Amino acid sequence: MKALVCEAYGKVEDLVYRDMPDPIPGTGEVLVNIEGIGVNFPDGLLVEGKYQSKPETPFMPGGEFSGTVSALGEGSSDFLVGDRVLGWQSGFGAYAEKIAVPESVIYKMPESMSFDQGAALICATATAHHGLKQRGRLKAGETLVVLGAAGGTGIAAVQIGKAMGARVIAVCSTDEKIAFAKTQGADDGINYSQQDLKQTIKDLTDGRGADVVYDAVGGDAFDACSRAMAWDGRLLIVGFASGRIPTLPVNLTLVKGYSVVGVFWGAFTQKQPKDHADNMRELFQWFEQGKVVPVIDKVFSLSDGVQAIKHVTGRGVKGKVVIRP
Ligand SMILES: NC(=O)c1ccc[n+]([C@@H]2O[C@H](COP(=O)([O-])OP(=O)(O)OC[C@H]3O[C@@H](n4cnc5c(N)ncnc54)[C@H](OP(=O)(O)O)[C@@H]3O)[C@@H](O)[C@H]2O)c1
Repeated sequence: MKALVCEAYGKVEDLVYRDMPDPIPGTGEVLVNIEGIGVNFPDGLLVEGKYQSKPETPFMPGGEFSGTVSALGEGSSDFLVGDRVLGWQSGFGAYAEKIAVPESVIYKMPESMSFDQGAALICATATAHHGLKQRGRLKAGETLVVLGAAGGTGIAAVQIGKAMGARVIAVCSTDEKIAFAKTQGADDGINYSQQDLKQTIKDLTDGRGADVVYDAVGGDAFDACSRAMAWDGRLLIVGFASGRIPTLPVNLTLVKGYSVVGVFWGAFTQKQPKDHADNMRELFQWFEQGKVVPVIDKVFSLSDGVQAIKHVTGRGVKGKVVIRP
């Protein structure tokens, strides 16, 4: 099969498009012919050796995929050859034409979902869902501030925040991205490259501050939000796309009575598999109701996978990028 391979940790440009042996499904596994691969910000970090996990080289990056079950390993029982599925495999292995995965990491796709949508649904969207539901305990009527709101997980947080009944403030670096976030349901926007983020959050909430902040950006934006939280608020730590992991004067949490809560979706899927399965069911329902629908910004071929990753890490994306092998 063809694959995009990391032969040594280094630059994304050094990924090699080449033949790799076809994977063989082991006990309890299925083989999936991949139709779509979701590109995520961490794919670039993984190749550069800057991610939490470091698979042995050579490996294919990419954890998120959709496709058709093409063979069953011994003992696999929940799927049939021909089933349309989407899945997530611990952050690598998906930049390829085929993948062998345990049954536990795949889900049958709703009939009305395309392979591109399926490839784009799981990581960014399920992270936003888990973050806002289990970690943020977001309630209807609360104010949710989403940083980097036009990005993959940001736009999912906008859609899910609305599905959960919150008022959503989208924070983006350009007016064009804010306009995009509003097409996906955001009630208000803040352009943090031009407006004072802390002050504008306060202005838009009559001085109360944000009940929940979904922060996949970190850096200066985190610093501003840590001073614009409402009493009993939840500041969700999702990622550091700005490149700076911020530090927090913890007295702020005491004085303002808010919590800082970490969100690590990959670990959640393993430590709370039943809650993860329930979340996926709810996401599929929201998809079928048209409330949470992945927005595909651009589609690339696998041989152009380097450009696909660059498009995501280069801050240009509105929604999600998908690769079709
Ligand atoms: N905790 C978890 O379980 C989990 C799961 C998935 C992803 N993540 C993390 O979430 C973050 C976002 O992932 P994503 O896939 O949504 O990425 P994305 O689509 O590239 O979105 C990231 C957003 O961050 C903003 N940003 C600010 N400074 C940036 C910079 N210097 N370079 C690039 N973007 C910058 C951009 O919005 P503006 O231009 O509007 O500022 C961009 O739209 C990543 O750090 C990723 O590792 C965490």
